[in-house]
Amino acid sequence: MRSLSGIQPSGRLHLGNYFGAIRQFLAFQNQGHECFYFLANLHALTSITDRDELERLTRHLAAGYLALGVDPERTVFFVQSDVPQVVELCWFLNCVCPVSLMSKAHSYKDKVAKGLAPNMGLFGYPVLQAADIIIYDSNVVPVGADQKQHLEMTRDIAVKFNQAYGEVLVVPEPYIVAEVAVVPGIDGQKMSKSYGNDIEIFAGPKATLKRCKQIVTDSTPLADPKDPDRCTAYALLKLLATEAEAEEIAARYRAGGYGYGHAKGRLAELINERFADARDRYAALEKDPDTVRDILRDGGRRARDVAEATMERVREATGIVTNR
Ligand code: TRP
Repeated sequence: MRSLSGIQPSGRLHLGNYFGAIRQFLAFQNQGHECFYFLANLHALTSITDRDELERLTRHLAAGYLALGVDPERTVFFVQSDVPQVVELCWFLNCVCPVSLMSKAHSYKDKVAKGLAPNMGLFGYPVLQAADIIIYDSNVVPVGADQKQHLEMTRDIAVKFNQAYGEVLVVPEPYIVAEVAVVPGIDGQKMSKSYGNDIEIFAGPKATLKRCKQIVTDSTPLADPKDPDRCTAYALLKLLATEAEAEEIAARYRAGGYGYGHAKGRLAELINERFADARDRYAALEKDPDTVRDILRDGGRRARDVAEATMERVREATGIVTNR
């Protein structure tokens, strides 16, 4: 079973990335899937034009994944742009992808509504994502719920290609974890860098506490009973606490005399405990960029071998004459 996924280096790692995606990547890795995980820096070009920023975020994300447990011994871990074949496949897929399919993309409309430039890269974003997935013959793609449509498009595109050229491409399945597919940010909306409501993983204890205190809660007085299921701090606590502790805290909410401030303080502690070791590993990797680069270089080499084999099938199937 081969699983593949990517994350755009468009911000610093936050709890939404972890619970919505990375935790699942690690589970597949630990279950012995053949994993391909990558940093989607070509996709990030659709929204970041500051070169230093893109470079910095790519390095941050690489160190962050490794610190959180992506194991390059077991997982092919690489940067998207180190596999130029993916851009080549994207062209073949563009040539079987109906414009009407792309016109239905929610993410394009949402991003333009948020102020991103409506360029062709942004419009064709799902085709490049399809190429990312298809080029490694991926079977299963662990993603957050927001990627559901992109996965449907990937399947549609693979099927179109196969209808035209025969059974050349593997049609992948999405894997979406329902309960944690949406992790709320400090304002209660989906946690996202672009909404400015995220809680970072590697910020450190002081900054984490400060951020947790900014979680928006209602003005129920300390002494009054509260509904845990309508509280963002509690929703986040539930992701981190043991079941027993989560139940105990829920009971305190309902009993009254337990304030939102208490919950926020405990949340910050839980975040700091959960990620303490990862934070140490992250700090060490940040000081050792050569190790990170060597890991990515090796991953890129392994990814290119698989990608090139797929491209040979694709060129052959489509009558593209190669004279290399
Ligand atoms: N679009 C994904 C996101 O924004 C990132 C991504 C790019 C991706 N290529 C992919 C995810 C391939 C899964 C598979 O999070």
